[in-house]
This record gives sequence, C-alpha cells and structure tokens, in this order.
Amino acid sequence: MQIKCIGVLTSGGDAPGMNAALRAVTRAAIFKGMTVKAIYRGYKGLIAGDIKEFKTQDVSNIIQLGGTIIKTARSAEFPTKEGHQAAYDTMQREGIDALVVLGGDGSFTGAKQFSDDFDVPIVGVPCTIDNDLSGTVYTIGYDTALNTILDAVDKIRDTASSHERLFFIEVMGRDAGFLALNSALASGAEAAIIPEIQTDEDQLEALIKNGFRKTKNSSIVIVAESDVTGGAYGIAERVKKEHPEYDTRVSILGHMQRGGRPTAQDRILASRLGAAAIDALCEGQRNVMVGVNENDQIAYVPFDKAIKHSKTVNMHKMEVLKTLSI
Ligand code: F6P
Repeated sequence: MQIKCIGVLTSGGDAPGMNAALRAVTRAAIFKGMTVKAIYRGYKGLIAGDIKEFKTQDVSNIIQLGGTIIKTARSAEFPTKEGHQAAYDTMQREGIDALVVLGGDGSFTGAKQFSDDFDVPIVGVPCTIDNDLSGTVYTIGYDTALNTILDAVDKIRDTASSHERLFFIEVMGRDAGFLALNSALASGAEAAIIPEIQTDEDQLEALIKNGFRKTKNSSIVIVAESDVTGGAYGIAERVKKEHPEYDTRVSILGHMQRGGRPTAQDRILASRLGAAAIDALCEGQRNVMVGVNENDQIAYVPFDKAIKHSKTVNMHKMEVLKTLSI
C-alpha cells in the first residue's frame, strides 16, 4: 500500500527533543510527498479527532523547545475494543494511512495492540528520558535529562559540602538505572542505588561497609526511583535510624528532569530518527521502532522487542564508580 497521509502523535511522558522529532517526521514526510496530520493529545486525540494538518512552517522554530507542542496524554480508553474502533474510525475519516508514534514503552505497547486489532501500519520513535527501550542505544530526551540532573547535583554538592551532609538525590527512571548510574558517574557522586541490583545484595549496607564516609565529610548518593530501591526517602529513613551520626538530607529532582531545551545530542538523534521513521514506512516497515545501534546506524526494532526491557545498564560503570569514590 502506498502511504499518502500519515498521522503523527506524541504520547505518554514528554521528553526533551519530542518537538525536534515532530519537526523531522513532518518535514521528511512532506519531502516524500505525503500529507501530515498532527494528532493532538496522543491516543486521546486520535479517538476524539483532535487533528490539524501540518505544513512545513507549522514545525518552524520548535527544534529547540522542550515539551511537545502537540501535547501529550495517557488514555485509559484507547486500549479497549471501543477505543481501538474509535481511533480506527478517525483514521478512516481523516484519510490517515499510517501512524508515527513518538513515545516510550506504554505508547508502543498501545501501538502494537492497535495494529494487531486493525492492521494499521505504525512506526515508533523512542522518546523517553528513561532510556529504557531495547534495541536502541539511546532514546530521545535521555541526554538532556542526564545533563539537567548533572546541573542539579553540582548545585546540591555545594551545599552538601558546606554543611558536611550526606545527600540522597532521587532521579527518575521508572525501574531503570540508566539515569541514576550515569549521572552518578558524571557528577562524581559517591554511589548509585539502582533497581537492576536486587535487594539480596543490600546496596546500602555494602556502601557503608565500603566506608563511603571514610575519607569525606559530605557525600552524594544518587537513587533511582523504584519500588526495588525504596526511593531516596526510604533509604534515608533507614540511614537516619541505623546511622544517626550522619547529617542526612533528601532531594527529589522530580519533573524538572523532563523539561528544558534539548541538548545537541538529543536534537541530532531526534532529527535522524524522525526522518528514519518516514524511510521505514516508505520501505514497507510496520510495527517497528526506529533506533540507533552500537555502530550509530539506524535499526528497525519490532515493538515486541523494544518494550521487553532487556537492555541492561553497564555494570562495569558501577565498578568504576566504586573505584573512584574512595
Ligand atoms: O517515563 C518517564 C517518567 O519520567 C518516569 O521516569 C517516571 O516514573 C514517570 O515518567 C512519571 O510520569 P508522570 O508523572 O507523568 O506520570
């Protein structure tokens, strides 16, 4: 089937670089002679028909903007039978032949179920600060979030050092330690507590046994948000009880990690992957996420594989972190 008209949407948690990806998808599609329909508010907008045709100038001046100009949402209705039917009806009405979905694992899970039901060609562009999609080395938004975290940790270090305190800083990652481990390494933190290391090896005890306070009066420990780690508050509570001699504080970085101007890396990645999504559709690919492999080449990753959470953090980095925090 020749694809004449694509619908593009952003879905799930936003990520810096989503706008750059939207720009790339729009312009690459127009370059190939396609019509582009921007779907506002993710799958919710697809159901509701919240749609506007985008010309090349509609994506002018957005490459540098955080967030997503077409808004994002999480839809409870979409994964239902009625939701899929309503979304398909909208596509028929609008003449949309294929979808490009900019999002993370929840968005691709939704895309896969929809195309299983209605045989709609869908290509995904990985946008999440968590970097937790398999089959791509990086996701759009991850590098910007990492740099935002670094900026915050550098500032917290000033006050930690002045007051000779132990800080537990919680970063996002939804059960993935990429942001926590890499920000710990890049900020010179004393340790990272990540969900990939299960509690059978008690990370906190190991830290204390290794004497992370032997040579320093102030310390920074980066904690990945997750039920496995217990989060920064959970860990700090334990330390307060077991080691009342430490002056302990907690800082949760929260949603500031999702905002801000995308870094050069994220803009480049978004531009490449946005264009690759259109190439993929032209080549007849469907139900794949576009990504970059270890050789910095474009890879087509089936949705099933992308959402598997099989990408692992590099444990060698954990060893380096331990070595350097003496
Ligand atoms: O998926 C990105 C992410 O930032 C996670 O790290 C975090 O758990 C989640 O989104 C929070 O999203 P929200 O507050 O939008 O539900």
